[in-house]
Amino acid sequence: MRLYASPSLIALSAAPLVVHSLQLPFGIDIQIPAVLDAHLNTIKTQISQIQVPAFINKIIDPTGSSPLLSLHRDLVSIPSVTGNEEQVARFLETYLQSKGFKVELIPIQSPEYPKKRYNVFAYPEGGSRSAPILLTSHIDTVPPFLPFKDGLRTVHGRGSCDAKASVASQIIAAEELLAQKHITEDTVSLLFVVGEETNGDGMRHMNTYDLKWDAVVFGEPTELKLAVGHKGLAMLEVEAKGRASHSGYPNLGINANSHMINALYKLDNLKLPSSDLLGNTTLNIGVMSGGVAANVIPASAKAEVAIRIGAEHFIDVKVLVDDALKGIEGVEATWKQPHYDPVFCDHDLEGFETIALSYGTDIPNLKGRHKKYLYGPGSILVAHGDNEKIDKSDLYEAVKGYKRIVRGILNAKAVVVADPAKSETVVPPVKAAVVVEPSVQVVEPEVEKVVVPEASGDKEDYKKSDDEEKVEYVTILPVEPIYKHERKND
Ligand SMILES: *[C@@H]1O[C@H](CO)[C@@H](O)[C@H](O)[C@H]1NC(C)=O
Repeated sequence: MRLYASPSLIALSAAPLVVHSLQLPFGIDIQIPAVLDAHLNTIKTQISQIQVPAFINKIIDPTGSSPLLSLHRDLVSIPSVTGNEEQVARFLETYLQSKGFKVELIPIQSPEYPKKRYNVFAYPEGGSRSAPILLTSHIDTVPPFLPFKDGLRTVHGRGSCDAKASVASQIIAAEELLAQKHITEDTVSLLFVVGEETNGDGMRHMNTYDLKWDAVVFGEPTELKLAVGHKGLAMLEVEAKGRASHSGYPNLGINANSHMINALYKLDNLKLPSSDLLGNTTLNIGVMSGGVAANVIPASAKAEVAIRIGAEHFIDVKVLVDDALKGIEGVEATWKQPHYDPVFCDHDLEGFETIALSYGTDIPNLKGRHKKYLYGPGSILVAHGDNEKIDKSDLYEAVKGYKRIVRGILNAKAVVVADPAKSETVVPPVKAAVVVEPSVQVVEPEVEKVVVPEASGDKEDYKKSDDEEKVEYVTILPVEPIYKHERKND
């Protein structure tokens, strides 16, 4: 690939034939020599000093010229280890305001975290706090902070996957849905919380607000699959008490380690219930300690156990564990708080692969009868590691995915947008509803206004802008006989 004659670029033509594929936002793969990787920054600087057409910029600086990648970069560049989320919250406030959102910073107080921290709650100007669909994720990360590093295909940095990839793609998805008029302003709100990686205080705080949603889409790394749910978690501390004595006279003491071994052996071999959706319940003996020296009968021993629950309920597992430890001399088990039950998610949208997960999320922390969807870019396998990363292509896919989820929710079931108590929001019957799916049956509406996803958009524009997605939506049909919609012009 030849661009302009700069020393770096001339060097490219002599580069070895090892090539990388440069994946561009608009779906084209360009084969470029590997040496470009190292020279990328130099080239960026040189190009920025001369006038170049926009398409060159897209090639040379895909991050800077992409709203999605640059938002993601800005988020990842701000350290936000749990307890230190103020700066990233303020960044999001400014960003979202500049995109026409009304933003509320919701202070979160927690004795463990003395600094100022905020959840970010946003909805489009002209919309309302009580939009029926919520897109949500978290802005805190695990420690330590790892700086943003841009690669050709991949972005590295703490939070690049968990969960700033979800945050960025949810925001861009909402922006695009609005810009393309696939949704009205009162359809979707955004919530980005603190504290997900530790005690869930950010999400739990939302229960003190009088907010309800029909459907909540949680953003976490699910490899772009729709989660059927995630396992529950319970942690157990096992303690054994004995009596110390000289190891040469064991009959004078009581060996706590022997009791502990007995107890842990039983736990390790316990058959625990599973479920078809979430799979096996697994038990991990993560920490063991006991005794002070080889020639002393140990007086105490301790172990810590984590159980990932694939069964329907925590209690099904608890009963079996308690039973197994019953009657083992000197051994006592304490269940740690909090534990959480397995979470079963809605996955009734077509066109998605599904996945069962074994990690915790904020889902159980948000009370309410909303439908729960869990979806996001990236893999949990790299999420907390020292090489946390995300593929740029996954970010783009996630934007499409979130858009399909929102539209799938709206298509699958007519979602009530307006407050039924407000009479002025009742719209007269509308016969010629503009619905893209030809098989959608339109009947006379009886009550309040409801958003039909494609209703307010221009059909022709829609076809041009989103043809590929449209094909996938055709299979998602309304399940309710009443299908109403709102027309802004009425
Ligand atoms: C679940 O447990 C069964 C029986 O213990 C085992 O054969 C199977 O491989 C386990 N499944 C997974 C996914 O680990």
